[in-house]
Amino acid sequence: MVWGMTDAVPHTNSAFRTAVVPAAGMGTRFLPATKTVPKELLPVVDTPGIELVAGEAADSGAGRLVIVTSPGKDGVVAHFVEDLVLESKLKESGKYHLLEKVRKAPGLLEVESVVQDQPLGLGHAVSCAESVLDDDEDAIAVLLPDDLVMPRGVLETMARVRQKRGGTVLCAIDVPKDQVSSYGVFEVETVPDAVNPDVLKVTGMVEKPAIEDAPSTFAAAGRYILDRSIFEALRRIEPGAGGELQLTDAIALLIKDGHPVHVVVHRGTRHDLGNPGGYIRAAVDFALNSDEYGPSLREWLTDRLKRADS
Ligand code: UTP
Repeated sequence: MVWGMTDAVPHTNSAFRTAVVPAAGMGTRFLPATKTVPKELLPVVDTPGIELVAGEAADSGAGRLVIVTSPGKDGVVAHFVEDLVLESKLKESGKYHLLEKVRKAPGLLEVESVVQDQPLGLGHAVSCAESVLDDDEDAIAVLLPDDLVMPRGVLETMARVRQKRGGTVLCAIDVPKDQVSSYGVFEVETVPDAVNPDVLKVTGMVEKPAIEDAPSTFAAAGRYILDRSIFEALRRIEPGAGGELQLTDAIALLIKDGHPVHVVVHRGTRHDLGNPGGYIRAAVDFALNSDEYGPSLREWLTDRLKRADS
């Protein structure tokens, strides 16, 4: 089923047309909230995380968003459907500022959904999107809605790398060494003819390594441009950590087969919305930057921190 695109002008970039957002996970780190509320709809100030990520996908030139959802998480896709009753009420009462806000998500880009019946892992979730791709799509973007990568723009850099070097392009952030064990970590080598020193060749990937085993401090950051051959690799992998089909294992297969895999190191902020600690930081960061909430929050936080110290 297709929704959205009420007033947006479609624009495409030549590396990918479809952005896939896997949103079928159980969100167990966010229980009990996620018993009934999908974590992708939890607001960062007033906007659900998935709308922020959809905005990034639209900015990067994607023409459509494919949300991988699970039975019972219909609200995630409903967020991108026009609500004419609500819109007319807001119009009648002159609340144009709010009207603009509720119209934003349906206007971003065309939205389609596919259902992952069981949470068999991120790799499996991505494989569910294959059925809705057109024959001429030779790559897709994947954006994890848990990850806010800011400022926007890394997907465009990744698309340029794909156009120049082909294959698969991933995104990394440089994390402090003592945090590597929380991430998928890249083994990399420099690219001799790269103009941008933040473009590196990936020679391997290790999931949550011990500090002494980590091949670098470059950690996977939830943005991928995957060559279509990923689907064939996903069919070849066996369940890995936690009995799930891991996207990392399929990427490792591509590397082993000699398929080009590069990474762009993002030198900005990344927030992890998938756990309460990271989510709170993101909310505070966004709120501090808001004209509406920033000044009073800053004042309150300053006062609160003084009290905490005493
Ligand atoms: P996570 O493992 O971070 O999300 O997967 P989760 O499984 O929802 O969270 P916890 O561990 O139970 O707290 C990263 C992304 O992949 C999606 C999730 O929705 C999340 O956006 N995902 C994960 C799927 O779509 N399907 C899956 O089977 C697993």
